[in-house]
This record gives sequence, C-alpha cells and structure tokens, in this order.
Amino acid sequence: MIPNQWYPILRTEDIKQDAPTGVRRLGEELVLWRDLDGKLVCQSARCPHKGANLADGRLVGNSIACPYHGFRFNTEGTCRHVPALGADGRIPASLKIDTYEVREQHDLVWLWWGDKREVLPDIALARELAEHPRPYETITFSRPVHYTRYIESLLEFYHVTFVHRDHWANIIDYTFMYGSWRKLWLDGRERYIAANKIVNHRVDVEGTIIRNTFDQCEEGNPSNTWHFDLIYQAPCMTHVRQGLLEVTTWLVPIDEHNTQAIMRLYEYPLLKAMVPVKQLRPPILRLSLMMEQYVQDRQDNDIMARQEPKVSERGVNKFIAVDELNAKFLQMRDRLKAEARAAAEASAAAETPVVPVASGKQPGAAAAGPAAVQDQEAAPAPARAHGGADGSTKGSTGASADGSTNGNGKAPGSSNGSSNGNGSGDRRTRKGARAGGLSKTAP
Ligand code: FES
Ligand SMILES: [Fe+2]
Repeated sequence: MIPNQWYPILRTEDIKQDAPTGVRRLGEELVLWRDLDGKLVCQSARCPHKGANLADGRLVGNSIACPYHGFRFNTEGTCRHVPALGADGRIPASLKIDTYEVREQHDLVWLWWGDKREVLPDIALARELAEHPRPYETITFSRPVHYTRYIESLLEFYHVTFVHRDHWANIIDYTFMYGSWRKLWLDGRERYIAANKIVNHRVDVEGTIIRNTFDQCEEGNPSNTWHFDLIYQAPCMTHVRQGLLEVTTWLVPIDEHNTQAIMRLYEYPLLKAMVPVKQLRPPILRLSLMMEQYVQDRQDNDIMARQEPKVSERGVNKFIAVDELNAKFLQMRDRLKAEARAAAEASAAAETPVVPVASGKQPGAAAAGPAAVQDQEAAPAPARAHGGADGSTKGSTGASADGSTNGNGKAPGSSNGSSNGNGSGDRRTRKGARAGGLSKTAP
C-alpha cells in the first residue's frame, strides 16, 4: 500500500445516520460515525478493553458505546464512561482509541493514510474528473484480489477482446458499440474481436497522474479503430474514456488479499437525448454499473483469481511495449513508497516526537505512516487526527448537499434513537451530513 495518500474508503451515502458504520480498509478495522453536529468521525474499531468491534455498538450523544460492556469513547477517542465503574469511577488513561483524518469530497469519504502532518494536502483529482460536467452514479463492491493486479487490469484494454466476448451482456456491448449501421450492427462481434492491435500509444506522467492514449484497431482495416484514454492517479484511481463510456474506478486495499472497488459511471451524452425524463437516467446508469459488476468485472476477476504471483511488482511480469502504463504504475508505486520511507527516516533522524501507535502496531507506524513501505506491507495505522473532534474532519467540505439520489440528505435531523441509560440527556437529535458538499455533477 502506498503511504501518505488520501484513499476513498466509502461513498458518503454509505455512512449510517444513526448508527456506527464499520469498514475494513488498509488492513485496519475502522468505525465511522457522525457526531451531533454531523461531523464525520473515523476511529479504530477495536475496543481497547477486550477487543470487541465498536462498529457493532451504538451512538450515545457525542460518543460511541462498545457493544460488549458499554464503555463510551468521545470524538477524540478518549473513554469517558465505564458503566461498571459508575459515574465517578476512575477511568484508566490507556482506554483510548485512535482517531483518523477523514474528509468528504466528491460524494466519497477519504481517509488520510500516512504520517501525521499539521497541514494535509488537498484531495486533488485529475482535471478530467475535477472538471467533469456530467452527472454520475457510483456503486461499490469487494473482490478477493490484491489491489495491484486489479489496478493493472483496468490500466490496459487489449484483454477486452479475449475476456469479454461471449456473455450475453458482452454481446449487447459489442453489437451496439462496435457494429456498423451499414450491416445493421450484425458485424459487431466480428469487428469487436478483430480490433485488438494497439497503435498511436502514448504515455505522459504529470506528478502522481499517468495518462495513456491509444487506438485499438483491426490490422489492415483502419475503419475499425477505437480510441481510448486512460488515467491512473496515485494511489488507487483509474479512469477510462472510450466512445460513449466513461468510468472512474478506485481500487482501495481492504487488506493484503482483498480490494474494494468504488466504480463511478458518468451519464453518456446520448442518454440525455434518449431518456428526456431526468429521474429515469440514474437507474439506467446503476443498471449499467451492475452489469459491469456482475459480468465484465467478474470476468476480469476470474482471471485475476488465478494469476500468479498475487501481488504485481516490478520484475514479476514480462511486459511488452504497450504495457507502458502498467510499468509506470508499478514504478510510481515504488517511487512513492520510497519517498514515504525517506520522509519517515528524515523525521526519525530529526527526532520528531513519535506519535503513539494503536495497540499491536509496529512502533513508528503511525508517525511514519508507513509500515506500508516495508516489503510485507503489514497493515500500518492511518495517521491519527490532529486536534480531536475538530481535527478529525478538518477541511471537510461536508457531504453532498443535493441529497437527490445519493441519500446524503437522508433523514437529516432524525433521532439517533439511542439512550444512554443514565438519563444524562444524550437522547438528542443527530444532525445529518453537513451541507455544502459538492454536487454530484461537479466532483
Ligand atoms: S470490550 Fe468494549 S467495553 Fe468491554
Ligand atoms: Fe476487463
């Protein structure tokens, strides 16, 4: 895993309003919840008492209560209430959980996975996405593959004519996308399968973004040529544009063996003309995404499941010239990991105070981010948030305000429904996500 990066870990709409939301990302069990002001809090889900998962607990006022013995932790991760010790019991200082930096942008929740910094970098998407004017829909699902193999598979498209050719959903694709009207689209399959030579291949690197443009064509038949634009942005974003199709997929490490895909499809220009009723277009996009999830992406994953080695890195593949984007991705991954390692070493040399690490973590992991820079990529802790409650969402733009189809505006002001059991007035209204988020049409 590449340290010192923002990783999208969930869609904003996946955050429950009145209960904790648990996820496993970057080798960590995390719990996310909103405080009474609607600010998003992200913490280690492992209860320091006896290791229960706090995501199974409940929200009580501005704290999260463990499902096992009801210990309550505030937005800064400090244990403030131990029912078994009573209201004036002495709570051990070691009863603390880590709080991590998260932000909400582009309808996604982003986790800073890296070293502790006073000022974190902005979440800056490639301009093609940042300036993208089209509405989109986003789905998410997990796969049992290493993120390097998954990213690789989306950073080349000359596998498509071999992997995606015989399923009925593929037949629909190639009939309409590749067929020629002169032959009433009946030549779709033939043209699709024949267009497998890569020409006009070009790769450009700009910071942590790599762009690749190429044409996929039928040898000797220039009329059967398809232009592709691919983008990789570290640590885990892929973007493809081909004809009508434009998809962004973030491949986020769950751990060393599993990856979460967050897949976003943009409205095709034609769809607006074909379906004038605006409300009908999101379901069509979602249907297309589900087709991708259950057909094409599954076909890719069937291949990945049997790839060896499971982790791709420099030296394990025999790349050909048109694999330049794959090669540059692996180079960039190595470079960013080396930079993180150097920064951690410089920080240690300068005797920067080491940030306390969560129990069971390797010393220095949180301060340096970067157990990830070790070869085994043992799961390091994301950096703890600065300044507790406020710091945990510092700089957040808030969830999307549109609330139209993504559910962000779901039940704002709904009761959290929980009771603290001691009448301390925690049965209060939990606000919805903060307004001011970005429109789904302007990520
Ligand atoms: S395990 Fe969490 S309170 Fe006991
Ligand atoms: Fe594929």
